[in-house]
Order: sequence, then structure tokens, then C-alpha cells
Amino acid sequence: MTRIDQLSAIEILDSRGRPTVKASIKFKSGARASASVPSGASTGAAEAIELRDGDSNRYGGLGCRKAVANVNGEIARRLIFCEIPDQSSLDHILIELDGTPNKSRLGANAILAVSIAFARAKAIEDGAELHEHFSTMIGERAYIPSTASPASATSSIHPSSFILHSSPPPAPTLPRLTINLFSGGRHAGGQVEFQDLLLVPLSATIDEGLAVVDNVYRSAEKLIARKYNMRSLKADEGGLAPPFPSVQRMMEDAAEALGEAGYVLGREVALAVDVASSQFYRDGLYHWGSPAKTSAEMIDGIVELAGRFHIVSVEDALAEEDWANWPALRAKLKAINVLTLGDDFLCTNPGRIQRAIDAQAADALLLKVNQIGTLTQAAQACRLAKSAGWRVTVSARSGETEDDWLADLAVGWSADQIKVGSVRQSERLAKYNRLLEIEKETRWGVVGWPGIGIGQ
Ligand code: PGA
Ligand code: ZN
Repeated sequence: MTRIDQLSAIEILDSRGRPTVKASIKFKSGARASASVPSGASTGAAEAIELRDGDSNRYGGLGCRKAVANVNGEIARRLIFCEIPDQSSLDHILIELDGTPNKSRLGANAILAVSIAFARAKAIEDGAELHEHFSTMIGERAYIPSTASPASATSSIHPSSFILHSSPPPAPTLPRLTINLFSGGRHAGGQVEFQDLLLVPLSATIDEGLAVVDNVYRSAEKLIARKYNMRSLKADEGGLAPPFPSVQRMMEDAAEALGEAGYVLGREVALAVDVASSQFYRDGLYHWGSPAKTSAEMIDGIVELAGRFHIVSVEDALAEEDWANWPALRAKLKAINVLTLGDDFLCTNPGRIQRAIDAQAADALLLKVNQIGTLTQAAQACRLAKSAGWRVTVSARSGETEDDWLADLAVGWSADQIKVGSVRQSERLAKYNRLLEIEKETRWGVVGWPGIGIGQ
């Protein structure tokens, strides 16, 4: 049992200079910790709701004073001097207190900040590293949703819905890096349709992987100066964002930069893309190139790109509501050993994930804790995806803070990949630096990727 003696929050600013929530907690034992939450820009329709003030005179309406007041008021009143057995109990108190299907009353930003601060203080109280603590959490209890309804998972989860999970603890490995080289879409003013072109270093360590990515990044900066006659501008996640005339050209530029850095595509580095296609899906068509594409044409275009450029993972190739076409996408990508990764499509939402498992509509989950709003529900999403044999990418958001808990989460939950953004901004580097620290301490290797010939 853990007794919470103090709980408070403040409004801080994220990497885009927008307000977000930082919560601080103190236990009776004296253990204390803080945690800050991130915020997305290309958000899924099924995401839990960040509570924003809506006062246009302050931060364009994006202030978080209401969310902060909810932590300092209603949430603190409910939790202070309460004996809390574990994380899932805490999270269920928060879910019930909020009482909405999508955390819109108290705010997912308020709730998640408390959820993570609690986990961090608990790790401190137990004398454990945060990733060790996270790994015990994933082995606790799993929620298996009884319906596959996309809206059901953020609705209130009754403790009786929980079953004990009995599989062995996750293998001690580190996640494989997937790092933005080029950015487009919402994160870069829409100069090119796709949102992220990522490098996937095939290195055995985080340390080597980061150095490989830095080499390619520097060679891409030179390429941009030469081809686009400009200083390299960076997008929200630190990816380079010159005015690529097309997605094809962006891919070709990546391959060229890689070659100029002395690497062979598919040997030291592979590529991944986040298409974030919901952002350019309108009236049943994908506005990628001209004329706009049907779902079938979109799938063919993606498969062609994947084959040409050693792409090993494609995120949100189809729109979040285009359910009917995801199974065909997955079948075609699977045939060429490419992961069908769902971000906005799945929204870290166990109901949507179960539906996608049943429909064979994806085989990899992009896990963003703030899409669902508590650690317990995110752990359920992770467990559900893994139990279906999917791979899991733990992901940051485009608006991040200097907090580094995400690195511990990716390690503790044995994520296959981590996606944090580029290697040039402190809010991203905080996570990479934490991974380096964990790597030094544990000496664990980076997880294999049998589908692309790395490890078992
Ligand atoms: P977001 O983007 O944080 O703006 O949603 C990240 C992603 O789409 O992967
Ligand atoms: Zn995405």
C-alpha cells in the first residue's frame, strides 16, 4: 500500500511552446517524483481528450490551467491520504472520477501526468529503476475487452473485467531505433504529403545506431544545401524539411544521403515511413499526388515504394476510418515483410486493437500513452498487441518535454521499436540519452527483427 501525502500540478511549456501539464507527487514514505505529458498535432479522432482552456487571449486557447486546477483540486482531494495498492488501482480511481468515455471532463493531460508521476515515485520508493518498475507493471493484469467496438476502450473499465496474465516476463532487450530524417505533413507545413521518413539503423547497440543516424543526418544537411540551395530547416520533431517536390523525391534524397554517408540501404540502415494519411484523406480519396488515389491505388503506391526503398515498416498508410481496406494493405505488406503499423488507426485503444486483430488489419501497434490516458490502459493495449504476435513501437508525440520517462517505458515494456523524433532537439535527445544510460547500465542488446533478417 502506498499513501499519497501530496499531489499538485503546474502548467509548463512543451517543445512547440504550447502549455502542458507537469504533476508532482509525494508519498508518506517520503518518495517524491514529477512527470510531464506530451501532446500531438496529427491526432487521431479516437484519442483521449486533452483539456485546454479555450481562452483565445492566452496561448491561442491552448492553456492548461483547467487541467492543472483539476489535479490540484478534485484529483488531489480524491487521492490525498488514500492507500493505493498499485498502479491499476490508481488509474481506475482516476478513470472513475473522470466518468467520461474519453477523459474529457478532468482531461487526459491531467490524468496521465498523475498516472506517470505515481509510477515514478513508486519506482523510487521500491529502489528500482523506472524501466524495472514499468516491466513489473506490464506483467500485472491485462484487460481483454469483451467487445471490439472502437469506442469501447476508453469507457469505464470495471475491475472485474481484469484477468491475471501468466506469460513469462518480457525478454531484456532494448528497442530498435526508428529516427526521423525527413519530415512533412502536419509537422512541416504540408510541403510533402507523408509525415515522417525514418531511418532504422540495423546496429546491435543504441550507441552505434545513434552514430549511424547522425552520419546520415549530416550528409542529408549537405544534400539539402546543394539541391535545394537552402539552410536545413527543421520540423516539429527535428526532421529536415526542405521543399521536396514529391514523396518519391524525398525517398530518393534519403537513399542518396545514406549512400553519401557511406552506407548501403538495407545493409546498415533500412527505412520506415509514417504516412499519416488521415491528414490527406478527404471524400474517400487520398490526396497524394494528382489525381487523388483510391484506397486500392494508395495500397499499390505504398507497396511499390516499400519495395524500391527497403522500407520495413509503414505507419498509417490508410486513414483511420478506412477500416475496409486495412486487411488488404496488411496482406500485401506482409507478403514483402513490411510491418503494417497503426497509429491514429488504433489510437492505443484496446477496443480498436482487438477489432484490428480480428480483421487482420495490422500487425504492429504504435503506442502513445496519451492517446488512451493512463499507464494501465496503455499496458493493456501493449499486452493485447503482443499477445496477437504484433510488434510494438513506443512513440513520443510531436509536442514533447524534456522528461525522459518514455525511454524507460519502451525498455520496461520490451518495445520492439522506439520512435522519438530526430537527433537534434533536446526534448528528443533526453530520451536517447536515457537509452544510452540504460544501455550502459544493463548491457542489453537491441532487439532483433526476424522479418528483416536481424536476430531470431
Ligand atoms: P503527433 O505525431 O504526435 O503529432 O500525433 C506523431 C505521429 O504521428 O507518429
Ligand atoms: Zn503517426
